[in-house]
Amino acid sequence: MRLTVIGTGYVGLVSGTCFAEMGNEVTCIDIDQKKIEGLKKGIIPIYEPGLEPMVLRNVKNGTLHFSTDLSKHIKNCDIAFIAVGTPMGEDGSADLQYVLKVAEQIGQSMDATLIVVDKSTVPVGTADKVRTTIQKELDKRKLNIEFDVVSNPEFLKEGDAINDFMKPDRVVVGADNPEATKKMRQLYAPFFRSSMDRLITMDVRSAEMTKYVANAMLATKISFMNEVANICELVGADVNKVRIGIGSDSRIGYSFIYPGSGYGGSCFPKDVKALKKTATEHGYIPQLIGAVEDVNDRQKLVVAKKIAQRFNEDLKGKTFAIWGLAFKPQTDDMREAPAIYIIKYLVERGAKIQAYDPKAMNEAKEFYLKDLDNISYHDSKYDTLNGAEAMVLLTEWKEFRSPDFNEIKKRLNKAIIFDGRNQYNDTILEELGIEYHQIGKTTKNK
Ligand code: UDX
Repeated sequence: MRLTVIGTGYVGLVSGTCFAEMGNEVTCIDIDQKKIEGLKKGIIPIYEPGLEPMVLRNVKNGTLHFSTDLSKHIKNCDIAFIAVGTPMGEDGSADLQYVLKVAEQIGQSMDATLIVVDKSTVPVGTADKVRTTIQKELDKRKLNIEFDVVSNPEFLKEGDAINDFMKPDRVVVGADNPEATKKMRQLYAPFFRSSMDRLITMDVRSAEMTKYVANAMLATKISFMNEVANICELVGADVNKVRIGIGSDSRIGYSFIYPGSGYGGSCFPKDVKALKKTATEHGYIPQLIGAVEDVNDRQKLVVAKKIAQRFNEDLKGKTFAIWGLAFKPQTDDMREAPAIYIIKYLVERGAKIQAYDPKAMNEAKEFYLKDLDNISYHDSKYDTLNGAEAMVLLTEWKEFRSPDFNEIKKRLNKAIIFDGRNQYNDTILEELGIEYHQIGKTTKNK
């Protein structure tokens, strides 16, 4: 099939590349000329394992193209995917201006039957707005062309995006016309060859809602466990044991019940807020979804507050080594990363930061922590430790999992670790004489 994917962000670039990998003829469109020029040469704007070789391979094969010319490519395709950003507006709702601008351009240039697919995460009712916007442009051009607007939300995770796309748990297709559903089934069929058919079809509004509900449910699991972790500390229980105890019940399951420093990234914070906003706009005040958000905001500062308390609320002139800046491992993404909030909290109280992250240091320097003076970046995790009072682990990169603890002890002023991701065994650290603070269990040897 001939596909046009509009927007070369995370979702657009990964989807376009994976569709090309399956033999479709794909053109990825973006208004950012520099980005498109770079992509043509194989320069990938994000860090995502496995993406670069797949882009290069498909560009070379001639199945994947990049362009800034939406109007030219829309004339020549079977399906157009809208995958532009839906950033959070001031009031917490998803900002649809980019989606609707693209819809307008599609209406201004299409000249044959077309399926338009919303792949961006968009609030319920957006497909109707996209349809009306396209129709308005066609009416201006006095054209009578049939088209469908389909909702096909994307569930990929950063850091494992290629795998998620190539072997999806499910593909959700919301369409009001059976012909459009048929075409989408045809497009996705090769992704299910070795497994059962995981394509779930439904009406457009339910598909739009599914994406928000999936993310809000996962965010709820995390906030619930973070709240449980805080209670565990108070009552002298160990959340690591409780997690295993409850996860063994298949109705609960082991995934997404890891307590930590709160969820971050581009999806959960934005989508939970947007779902709350949608409900409110329809006259329903959601109690639980609002609480999920509040618990997460508070959780982001739990580690920072533990540090302040340990040093008797006097952080002036004290140095802390930060291991990990990205919101999770295997990505350079720092959107809503707990590290931003924790580092700012410490610096505002006079502390100095020595940071290391395998991939996200440029993001930190250029965007998220660019206004901070008291922060230095280091080439290795051990270099951050020199002269620091404590090591603070904020992202669970594999290279932090089994470090040389004697080296950590040797370099730190005091042998203290604050772990925002519960990565280590407290008994082993205790034996080594390291004071170990984690989430959801009190420290014995302070
Ligand atoms: C998420 C969804 O998983 C994906 O389906 C959707 O399309 C986009 O949002 P992503 O944001 O890439 O993907 O990351 P994910 O791996 O889901 O983690 C989200 C956040 O939750 C991270 O900050 C992570 O550290 C945190 N998390 C996850 C926990 O704190 N505990 C857990 O048990 C799991």
